[in-house]
Amino acid sequence: MVEYSSNARNMRSSEIRRLMKLASDPSVISFAGGMPANDLFPIEIVDEIYNNLSKSVKQAALQYGPTYGYPPLIDSLKEYLRSRGLPLEGQSLLITAGAQQAINILTKVFIDPGDRVITESPAFIGALAAFNSYRANLSAIPLEDDGINIDLLEKELDARSPQIKMVYLSPYFHNPAGIIYSEQRKKEVLEMLSGRPHVLLEDDPYGELYFDEADKPLTRPMKAIADASIPICYIGSFAKIFGPGLRLGWLLGPESIVEKCEMAKQSMDACSATLSQVLTHEYLSGGKLAPYLSRLRPVYARRARLMLDALERCMPDGITWTRPRGGFYVWLSMPSGADATEVFNRSIARGAAFVIGSAFDPHGVNNNSMRLAFSFTPEEKIGKGIEIIADAIKETMQD
Ligand SMILES: Cc1ncc(COP(=O)(O)O)c(C=O)c1O
Repeated sequence: MVEYSSNARNMRSSEIRRLMKLASDPSVISFAGGMPANDLFPIEIVDEIYNNLSKSVKQAALQYGPTYGYPPLIDSLKEYLRSRGLPLEGQSLLITAGAQQAINILTKVFIDPGDRVITESPAFIGALAAFNSYRANLSAIPLEDDGINIDLLEKELDARSPQIKMVYLSPYFHNPAGIIYSEQRKKEVLEMLSGRPHVLLEDDPYGELYFDEADKPLTRPMKAIADASIPICYIGSFAKIFGPGLRLGWLLGPESIVEKCEMAKQSMDACSATLSQVLTHEYLSGGKLAPYLSRLRPVYARRARLMLDALERCMPDGITWTRPRGGFYVWLSMPSGADATEVFNRSIARGAAFVIGSAFDPHGVNNNSMRLAFSFTPEEKIGKGIEIIADAIKETMQD
């Protein structure tokens, strides 16, 4: 018998994985995957970029690179971050294998078993998995329509300050809740963290995907408006604005923190994929991002509208949902006591899937909700899929 480490013993093989397997059947109308639609990837741009690389750059692209990142990409990414108002002075950048690795590295660097992380509830499943894998204790603070519940955040910060190491927030088109923080809530959070030693992880993979230009100011990162005394690690990703298969994200944080993170990354993968970094540098520096985003935004806006219209048409009384202004997700809530797994079983039997709410509950318990991703589903199937789920909900509520 092999004997696993206590960390591995702590990993949970989840019910979610079983359900996701069912959802991946191609005959199912799936709202489960939080991913871009394949037909939207900028493959012609990738072809053009690759074909125009010089021989020496192609060689460099197949070579190892520095752990912190491919230097030209660091420069072009800095330019992009500056354009979004982010501060670069006294800060360092680390290119990571997706935002997921940035979260994992920060957790490794800050969390000893038993340390506490404050998260929103619901929260991104991948971040919860990272926190759990380092055996953090989680404080789950409910999300409201305009951000984290500020009174409960304050209470928790006051009550458990010595154990709290990190606060993890995803303020822009939240996964799974679909909401965006108001200016007011961002300011309140920053005021509350000011003068405290806790690190703020600001996770922002979706901020660029607003549906309406008028909402752009709301996507201004907290790190862009905070004073430098709050240690904020701003995490971004190319997954939703280029392609998740590149596995590229970044971490922008205080120099001393990023230096530790670089050491941690060194032992994980030595460097992020150089080929991806070369392509992404050319994509940024060649001015390809802005036109691509202009192409994506109306498509996701249309998919969201189709989903919201179908929900309006099909859902019974007592069901509520968020109305996203960007990103990929709608969060649907049923009356307390309703069980999303029962709804899932009925729904999958008829050919539609989603992710059950307990996957996003930091304590894995609350299950009267579900995440509906509109990003991946062909437009002509969205209405039918919602109809199936609505029928499954009606049946489950009648039982
Ligand atoms: C909120 C959030 N953070 C991080 C990630 C991970 O992104 P990446 O694919 O860059 O690892 C995701 C992916 O869905 C996400 O939704």
